[in-house]
Amino acid sequence: MKIIAANWKMNGSVRFAEEFVSKINEVQTNHKVIVFPPAELLGQFQGFRYCLGAQNSAIASSGAITGESSPRILYDVGCRYVLVGHSERRTLFREDDKVVFAKWQEARNAGLIPIVCIGERRRRWDTLQKQLSRLRGQDLSQTIFAYEPVWCIGTGVTPPPEEIDDVLYFIKGLVGKQSPLLYGGSVTAENAKSILSVNNIDGVLVGGASLDIAGFSQIMQASV
Ligand code: 13P
Repeated sequence: MKIIAANWKMNGSVRFAEEFVSKINEVQTNHKVIVFPPAELLGQFQGFRYCLGAQNSAIASSGAITGESSPRILYDVGCRYVLVGHSERRTLFREDDKVVFAKWQEARNAGLIPIVCIGERRRRWDTLQKQLSRLRGQDLSQTIFAYEPVWCIGTGVTPPPEEIDDVLYFIKGLVGKQSPLLYGGSVTAENAKSILSVNNIDGVLVGGASLDIAGFSQIMQASV
């Protein structure tokens, strides 16, 4: 069983979410499926048979932080997972490793399972080491990591499977064996099976291709 996660980013609509829920509810899979819609659409997922997550959560669960999403309330509305430190948040909102650590901690306190995203710009593995430095030595038993090389996000480019395997092995050496490791970056219905066959992989985090319901259904059914 692998983890098949869908990050819609800032895409979708009420109509699309309704169609997605009704069609994906019909799809059988042995994998664990987690969908991360925009927070505004979480309410459309009543009756969804798979898991739900949030794309972001705040560094605190309550208080005067206008416009942020409380991890406690996200749990309350049905989320069980949250993305932390996605490269778009690191870049566009300047979230540094300190903020990522605070969000990771608060998400766990609220009962959410954080999926911590890490990724380098130019095949520089020391970046990954730096991004993980605050988390090393912590209790990572309820934490998932997603390796998303920035040069593969939305570009149609993926590293060769052997390279994904080498990086995941490197990450495992840093965080230990207890945390599932996902790969993300231009995963499609066409390449999912070969990526999911990588030795050290526990699943994929799918961006753009998760908005194609038929294609996402195929990824959910990839036999590995
Ligand atoms: P794409 O699959 O669109 O490249 O996005 C990957 C991603 O950022 C998932 O979090």
